[in-house]
Amino acid sequence: MSRRVRKAIIPAAGLGTRFLPATKTIPKEMLPIVDRPTILLVVEEAVRAGIEDIILIAGRQKTAIEDFFDVSYELEDKLERDGKLEYLGILKRVRSLANVISVRQKQPLGLGHAVYCGRSVVGDEPFAVLLGDELMSSRANEETTTETLAKTYVATGLSTVAIMEVPESETSKYGIVEGETMSDGTLRVRNVIEKPARGQTESRWALPGRYVFSSKIFNYLENTKPGKNGEIQLTDAMMQVAREDGLLGSRFQARRYDAGDKLGYLQANIELALDNPELAAGLKTYLKQLVQKI
Ligand code: G1P
Repeated sequence: MSRRVRKAIIPAAGLGTRFLPATKTIPKEMLPIVDRPTILLVVEEAVRAGIEDIILIAGRQKTAIEDFFDVSYELEDKLERDGKLEYLGILKRVRSLANVISVRQKQPLGLGHAVYCGRSVVGDEPFAVLLGDELMSSRANEETTTETLAKTYVATGLSTVAIMEVPESETSKYGIVEGETMSDGTLRVRNVIEKPARGQTESRWALPGRYVFSSKIFNYLENTKPGKNGEIQLTDAMMQVAREDGLLGSRFQARRYDAGDKLGYLQANIELALDNPELAAGLKTYLKQLVQKI
């Protein structure tokens, strides 16, 4: 069976409570980083890794995401008639990036359940999972995080997840993996703990929301009981992958932002605007002046 990773699940059923009232009528995945919704940045990362099918696990009131990746006939027609071909090109590119397949998660039972909702679309293939709250920014000449994981999967046939080192004070915010670092720098995962309490682990290896799994994880998810916070946790199924099949942890090159957090979201906006040739010079001048004032 081919090890090529062609499909990605993007869970997008969350209510975006932390960004209320903005997210009362706009899905949090549509909040912009400069001029692109966060979901577009995540889909672009996946596409750069060779992903063709994006499986969006959506809830109610998320149709704006589906519309975003669809044809907007009136808008495209108007832009064409007005000769605004640059904008037209941007829209056409967005809608041809990938096949976006939407699946409803009818009850908020946890991340593990959200991923399980994609089972029948993924079938018997390896697949990536990208959490939309986490943004990974890679330069054009760098490998994206999903690409790094997919490459390791192709080379080893083992499920591989992104890991990053965090200070002890932050371990309780993440899924944490424990294991042994191998000579090539990858981690052989021995244990996975969802948001450990202080002192529960020595490990500082946190999961920043990028994964590549073999389809076997669905067998484990099928039988995963509610865990931490009464939710079906992806990390509990990962623990079984680690035990039964082997699980690797891989570091990554990308700059990562927690866009699910207001400060992280602002940081992503500022840093990505500094990468934007149209905005960089003006923003730099403004930031320098601002820093002198505060
Ligand atoms: C989820 C996962 C956790 C992971 C985190 C990354 O938690 O359960 O293992 O480290 O995403 O953002 P959440 O942030 O949804 O509570």
